[in-house]
Amino acid sequence: MRLAPILLSMVAVSSAAPSNIFNNIYDFSDELAEFYGKVSKYIDDVRHNVTPSATCDTSKISLPSFASGLPSPDGATPMYVALGRGTQNYTCADSTSSSTPVAIGAVASLYNATCIAANYPDLMEMLPNIAYKIALPANEYASMPPANIQLMGHHFFYDSTTPEFNLDTTAIKQYGVAMTKKQSQLNAPSSAAKGENGAVAWLYLTTTTGTVGEYKKVYRVNTASGSPPDTCKGMPSAFEVQYAANYYFFGN
Ligand SMILES: *[C@@H]1O[C@H](CO)[C@@H](O)[C@H](O)[C@H]1NC(C)=O
Ligand SMILES: *[C@@H]1O[C@H](CO)[C@@H](O)[C@H](O)[C@H]1NC(C)=O
Repeated sequence: MRLAPILLSMVAVSSAAPSNIFNNIYDFSDELAEFYGKVSKYIDDVRHNVTPSATCDTSKISLPSFASGLPSPDGATPMYVALGRGTQNYTCADSTSSSTPVAIGAVASLYNATCIAANYPDLMEMLPNIAYKIALPANEYASMPPANIQLMGHHFFYDSTTPEFNLDTTAIKQYGVAMTKKQSQLNAPSSAAKGENGAVAWLYLTTTTGTVGEYKKVYRVNTASGSPPDTCKGMPSAFEVQYAANYYFFGN
């Protein structure tokens, strides 16, 4: 039975205390309460064997239904799913309302949520809305609340048009690199956590030269926050907006 460890590790975090999870408790107690409510229901089901025992079967992974507004994976195979947490970076030519923020890329840590996506897609969809308000762990290699999931890689921009996903984290964890290019985007649904200025779009990316491994397609979905203000009024020349999103990696 492998479900119980996945679930119990999610709950462990409430006592294992990244204290920042409760700093803004009044802000997001509803979302966290719903999340932990579902987790404890699943734990109960596992204890009483309501849910048949399952393993971490990646063939069960599918994109959230709203992603049908993007091109389909088209036969590509789900490999991994990551919760991404970081910042979208922007620049402003000046601080007036006549200029518009320009996106200059994202920097995020990727956490391995593959087994949550395979077994509990409803929990998976909830994670970014909770996570975008939680500070990254001070130790880069620590697990991420609220689901206590392990670091799986880093996301940043190799150059201005090449989002990179580097999944080599340690000498042992060498999972390759997806170099990508944006193919299409879809405005986030109204259920997305907006933060101050709205959630960034959902994306469909395909891999390009420089990719190491079987990666073919990457989807950014379930985005929370990350958008810039409409204009540069009062903004500094460079700034960051906190965001979280789920990233689905497909290969052959
Ligand atoms: C983007 O944000 C990250 C922190 O999230 C920061 O380290 C980096 O310097 C920023 N990049 C630019 C170009 O502002
Ligand atoms: C993600 O976690 C699963 C289950 O533990 C593991 O099989 C897989 O290798 C991990 N992937 C990465 C890229 O770390």
